[in-house]
Amino acid sequence: MSLQAILYTPSTTRPTLQILDQLKLPHESVYVPIHTCEDAYDAIKRMVVRGAPAIAIVAALALAVELSSASSYGETAEAARKYVHERLDYLMQSRPTAVNLADAAGKLKVVVDAEAEDESAEMVVGRYVRAAEKMLGDDVKDNENIGRFGAEWILGNAKVGEEGRVAVLTHCNTGSLATAGYGTALGIIRSLHSGSNLTHAYCTETRPYNQGSRLTAYELVHDKIPATLITDSMASSLMNLKSVAAVIVGADRVAANGDTANKIGTYQLAIVAKYHGVKFVVAAPTASIDMKTASGKDIVIEHRSGKEVTHVETVVTAARGINVYNPSFDVTPKDLIDAIVTEKGVVVKNAGGDFDLSRLFWGVQR
Ligand code: MRU
Repeated sequence: MSLQAILYTPSTTRPTLQILDQLKLPHESVYVPIHTCEDAYDAIKRMVVRGAPAIAIVAALALAVELSSASSYGETAEAARKYVHERLDYLMQSRPTAVNLADAAGKLKVVVDAEAEDESAEMVVGRYVRAAEKMLGDDVKDNENIGRFGAEWILGNAKVGEEGRVAVLTHCNTGSLATAGYGTALGIIRSLHSGSNLTHAYCTETRPYNQGSRLTAYELVHDKIPATLITDSMASSLMNLKSVAAVIVGADRVAANGDTANKIGTYQLAIVAKYHGVKFVVAAPTASIDMKTASGKDIVIEHRSGKEVTHVETVVTAARGINVYNPSFDVTPKDLIDAIVTEKGVVVKNAGGDFDLSRLFWGVQR
C-alpha cells in the first residue's frame, strides 16, 4: 500500500478530508479530520502536515470541505466569490516560505472569478470544489513526471557507476508525505529504484525537526529502497569517502533566477556537493517557481520556535537558558545548482550561467 498524507473523499453533499498526523510519525499512523479552514491553518502552522505541495493541497481542500457544510458564503455569486477570496487569504498566512499555497490560491481565485450569466452562489462554489479536487490528482501525475525526468537527467549527466547505477543523497522529506503522492526529490529516487538504477539512497536526519530520520527514512523503509540514514554533519565525509552521484532536494520557493529556498541545511549540502564534483539537483513542480520573486534575497524565511532545537518532543536536549537561532529554510544560490527538474522538463543553465525558467510558463498567465 502506498503512503498517503492526504485522504480526501469527494461527495456532492459532504466531502471529507483527513490528514496523516506527521507529528506522530514514525511511531503512530493517526489521521485527523479537517473540517474548516481554521483546522487546516492550525495543522499547517503546527506542521501536522508539511511539505510545500501538501500544504497547498490541504488548504485548498479544507476550503472545499468547509464550503460544502456552510452557507456562510452568502446567497449571491458575488458573495461566494468574496468569501472564497477571504478564506484563501487567511490560509495563505499560515506559513510564509513555500510559494505553492499562494500559487494554488491565485489559480483558485481565477477559477471562481470567471463569471457566467445568472450564476448562483452554489455554481461558484461547485467550480471551486472541482478545481481544488483536480489539484490533488494533478500533483501525483506531476510528481511522476518529475521522477522520470530527474532519473533520466541524473543517469545522463552524473558520474554513473557500474551497470548504470547511482547512489544519491537527499535532505528533508519530499516524498508521499510532503505531496499528494510519489514525491518530488524522493520521486526521482523512487524512479531510479524502480528502473533498477539505484545502488543506494542516503538521507540526512534534517535537524531540528528531523523530517529525514522520521519521515524520509520511514518512506524508504516502507518502499524497501536500499537506504542509510546519516546525521546532517556527516554529509561532507560521506561525499568524500563514498561514491555519491547526486544530491537531490526539493524546493519551497524557486526565485525567477533559480535561487532556491528549501529546508535549512540545503545550502551547505550544495557547497559540499560542488567541492566534491557531485551534481546538485532541485526537484520541484512549476507551482514552486515564483517568477514574481527576482532572486533568493527577496524570499521570506520562516523562523520557528527555539524549542525545536532545545527539545526532542518533551525531552530537553540543550542547556537551559541558551539562545537559539532557528531559521526553517535557507537559500541555495543558483550558481550551486546543476539542474531544476519540473513536471514540464529539466532546466539547466545557459552559456551565460543563467536558468531561463520563464520558458516553463510560455502561454501561461502568471
Ligand atoms: O518545513 P517543511 O517540512 O514543510 O519543509 C519541507 C521542505 O523543505 C521540502 O523540501 C519542500 O517543501 C519540498 S516538499 C516536496
